[in-house]
Amino acid sequence: MKIIALINQKGGVAKTTSAINLAAALKILNKKVLLIDLDPQGNATVGSGVEVTADMNTTHEFLLGPFTASECKFEKEYDIIPTDIRLATAEMEIFSKFSRESLLKNKLKEITDYDYIIIDCPPSLSLLTINALVAADLAYIPVAASVFALTGLEQLKDTIISVQPLNNIEIGGVFLTRFDSREKFSHEVTNYLSEMFGEKLMNTKIRTCANINKAQVQGLDIFKFDSSSRSAEDYMSLAKELVIYG
Ligand SMILES: Nc1ncnc2c1ncn2[C@@H]1O[C@H](COP(=O)(O)OP(=O)(O)O)[C@@H](O)[C@H]1O
Ligand SMILES: [Mg+2]
Repeated sequence: MKIIALINQKGGVAKTTSAINLAAALKILNKKVLLIDLDPQGNATVGSGVEVTADMNTTHEFLLGPFTASECKFEKEYDIIPTDIRLATAEMEIFSKFSRESLLKNKLKEITDYDYIIIDCPPSLSLLTINALVAADLAYIPVAASVFALTGLEQLKDTIISVQPLNNIEIGGVFLTRFDSREKFSHEVTNYLSEMFGEKLMNTKIRTCANINKAQVQGLDIFKFDSSSRSAEDYMSLAKELVIYG
């Protein structure tokens, strides 16, 4: 079993999009996948077509209650522990707990029946994100090919190093998202990442594609929405790279 955190404290870089579509692609590759939505905004939940009701167990109950993953999971294409805004209050509750950085790690110890657990992180280096870094084997970092893509990456690297005393997490890979080969800065960002991360920079680039948004609006992964789209091709390629090198 591999636990993977999709992390970048910057919003809008395609953490959630990649969490959903990697989960779906790995499922197509016959892997057993659990997606954990660790962002109180719940975008991975909605994007997976799950509507959270008050009586459901969410990531909040999973982290802070006595519940097992199987009591909190919702079965879609892949299994998902969904989230809604109630997770926003968890951060303060977590703060007062013993071993507050390791709550998620301790909960995931009980789980053995998945090939991959994918954690969709919030857009911050908050205590929730630290919990993901302490729980995960590998961090995957999506970087949007945009003008401000590179700010914050040093800080992210430092944060990954700072959790080493608690968990020997490694960077599994860095990958470009919203890539447009016609844009000069898309290539500039690629060159910079190659210098900064060397062989950790993945070969697959996720190209910009309007279908991504359309699929999310309908609560579908890209394979369900249009399996012949270039986004489906890109995310399948990324998943295969992850399986080989991850
Ligand atoms: N390859 C892509 N092409 C076009 N739009 C994309 C692509 N990847 C993500 N998006 C869009 O960018 C926005 C932010 O993506 P999201 O996955 O929510 O980022 P994050 O989770 O890092 O905040 C969403 O509206 C999403 O639909
Ligand atoms: Mg997100």
